[in-house]
Amino acid sequence: MTSDGYESSGNEQGRIEGKGSSTMSSDKDHEIAVIGGDGIGPEVLAEALKVVAAAGAVLTTVEYDLGADRYVRTGEVLSDNVLEELRGFEAILLGAVGPPVGDTTVPPGTLERGLLLRLRFELDLYVNLRPFIGVPGSIAEGADFVVIRENTEGTYAGEGGFLRKGTPQEIATQGSVNTRMGAERCARFAFELAQGRPTRKLTLVHKTNVLTFAGDLWQRTVNEVAIEFPEVAVDYNHVDAACIYLVEQPSRYDVIVTDNLFGDILTDLAGAVSGGIGFAASANLNPARSGPSLFEPVHGAAHDIAGKGIANPLAAIHSAALMLDFLGEMDAATRVHKAINEYIASDHAGVSASSTASTAAIGDAIAERL
Ligand code: IPM
Ligand code: MN
Repeated sequence: MTSDGYESSGNEQGRIEGKGSSTMSSDKDHEIAVIGGDGIGPEVLAEALKVVAAAGAVLTTVEYDLGADRYVRTGEVLSDNVLEELRGFEAILLGAVGPPVGDTTVPPGTLERGLLLRLRFELDLYVNLRPFIGVPGSIAEGADFVVIRENTEGTYAGEGGFLRKGTPQEIATQGSVNTRMGAERCARFAFELAQGRPTRKLTLVHKTNVLTFAGDLWQRTVNEVAIEFPEVAVDYNHVDAACIYLVEQPSRYDVIVTDNLFGDILTDLAGAVSGGIGFAASANLNPARSGPSLFEPVHGAAHDIAGKGIANPLAAIHSAALMLDFLGEMDAATRVHKAINEYIASDHAGVSASSTASTAAIGDAIAERL
């Protein structure tokens, strides 16, 4: 137990070395913080780490006990000391955090604001990259697009408050904070990504017809950054229309760039139409590399299926592949991406809603394909 109350588990240093690492990886040792979290988080992360090892990437992992369970036991969400320690890693891999549905011991917002958003803001993880490939049989079958969600501003910034709280005249405001710098760095990242993809198309999603201040800033920013990327075709959709397109014509999208709240909502919908939230991966990136980036599945802790060995680990495995991309382990990353895509394309039973494939069996199947 350290001064801030953080418990060391004793065996938290786990060195994971992949087979064939001398030929298949850069041999660079990467220091990774692992936050298994709650519910199915630890189970799906175990499969992700299994696959990373099989791909030959060399990682030194340090486990951190954070999440609802820890909060209920200790009253602590994320201490300043643990945050400072986390800054020292190259990347953070997170499973899922959150209490069971209906649990009242963790007040709403405690973990969201105190842990996830605190990490996003403090580590300046300003890009939330969420890729979607429609699995066979899904509404979005054949679609292949990436949502770049601004990850540090908008309505998530925490601007606002109460007046006359508890009275009949109560007022609550929650402002949307949009900086030119924040929109521009996100737009530039999205354009660079689009430039490197075969379709080279970028769609700004917003609500410029109603949010005439924030929308105007985003639209002008995208128009100006677009001048630097003449090969990228630029489109615009209102967010309500984008919801229809995601269901009716998802293949129209290549790279979507949008603000924090629209990106949150759109990526749940995108996950649902491309096979289910069990497939949706995310990378919370600090592209300036002034600290670690954080990789996590979009899904939550799913306590109802925890411990049964039936959670789909593909979102966690895909998130780990995004981590390998970011760490520069291109060979290992490419092979994991390919194995995931081949597995999804070939094993319908293993990934469908009626799947009987176990969490470990899916991890094994991906590892064997490497
Ligand atoms: C997500 C989640 C988070 C968000 C919550 C848990 C704070 O829904 O990563 O999409 O709203 O960003
Ligand atoms: Mn969400």
